Amino acid sequence: MAKILEVLARSVWDSRGRPTVEVEVAVKGARGRAIAPAGASTGSGEAKSIEVRQAVHGVNTEIRSALVGKLLNQEENDKILVDLDGTPDKSRLGGNAIVAVSLACAHAAAAATKKPLWKFLAGNRAVAMPVPQIQIFGGGAHAQGRMDVQDFMIICTGAGSFGESLEWTAEVYRAAGARLAKRSALYGVADEGGYWPAFKSNEEALAELTGAISDAGFEPGADVAIALDIAATQLWRGGRYHLALENRTLSADQLHAMLLRWIERYPIVSIEDPFAEHDAEAMASFTRTAGGKVQIVGDDFFVTDKNKLLDGKAMGACNAVLLKPNQVGTLTETLACWRAAQEAGYGAIVSARSGETEDVSIVHLAVGWGVPQLKVGSFARSERMAKWNEGMRIEEALGGSKLPYPARKLFKRR
Ligand code: PGA
Ligand code: ZN
Repeated sequence: MAKILEVLARSVWDSRGRPTVEVEVAVKGARGRAIAPAGASTGSGEAKSIEVRQAVHGVNTEIRSALVGKLLNQEENDKILVDLDGTPDKSRLGGNAIVAVSLACAHAAAAATKKPLWKFLAGNRAVAMPVPQIQIFGGGAHAQGRMDVQDFMIICTGAGSFGESLEWTAEVYRAAGARLAKRSALYGVADEGGYWPAFKSNEEALAELTGAISDAGFEPGADVAIALDIAATQLWRGGRYHLALENRTLSADQLHAMLLRWIERYPIVSIEDPFAEHDAEAMASFTRTAGGKVQIVGDDFFVTDKNKLLDGKAMGACNAVLLKPNQVGTLTETLACWRAAQEAGYGAIVSARSGETEDVSIVHLAVGWGVPQLKVGSFARSERMAKWNEGMRIEEALGGSKLPYPARKLFKRR
């Protein structure tokens, strides 16, 4: 095992033009580098990011002193970071500092063995490419609340490979753009690169997306299905869910009924955060009703925290979890949540944040850990495309489209 020779942080810029933390970890003959992403619709239980200058200073002083001279070992290095921070939410040294160091350690360890990170993480395990969830329309906190639902995504459930999923997505993305242009209903793009449309209701987005799937020559539901991220914590006002676009508020029961109606009418196969992070009863009740039909994903609800996932399992809330390394802080804790999900029989999706960079680590985590799905944002803007393109390279290295691909199995009509 290689000894850590250097840990160095600097401030770089993310896709929203905001500063973020980049870290390099050096061992003899190899280096690893990683950049922290940043969320906008964050869950209250997330590891806390701190001011970037302060985070960089902490890495270059305290964290550097604690790690230099230690052996490169993910679990032990992550434990040092967690203990050194000493707070339950990583607010002293900063979740942004800690996740960048943790990821850079993983990159350095892979580089020291001259392997790509995915291969280093996979070890001897057989791997498959993850199935992408790709945003076509963006709303919520990523588009000044113009649409209430945050992500209208597609999953190419009938595609036979990662590469084919991206080809189909390109068609649907273009078809959706053409529909918007024809109606003069395009404001621009939201934070993750999805179209920011001028629709009159959230349901109109579902109808338009289904239309775009057909326009592109695919059968909605059979070839290409819809995944939503309601990000409902953002809609919660004084005990009710506020749909600003439609100028109305809904009780949890009314939101539940609306989502069931959407599932009946549109080819929806996955819904993320359908209720607010603290509305666990509503989440469990919705899972009882709809969990046999669709994937119900906890993002703000679980914040990649193994213990929250186990609590959710005990009460029957959700049947899948979003895995965001910066939500919990270290790779070791992210992996623990994924292992807990596997034991609980939950699905899982490795996810980017709305503020991203050219860093492609999450693609390697999804492949290397065998997580079956990947959410990166839209099919535009290079901080997103860098990740899809990295997936293309990995699929090629794995033997291309001959590889077994889990899309049809994961989303066979329930
Ligand atoms: P965030 O959005 O990075 O702003 O939290 C992504 C998501 O909610 O999945
Ligand atoms: Zn989300």
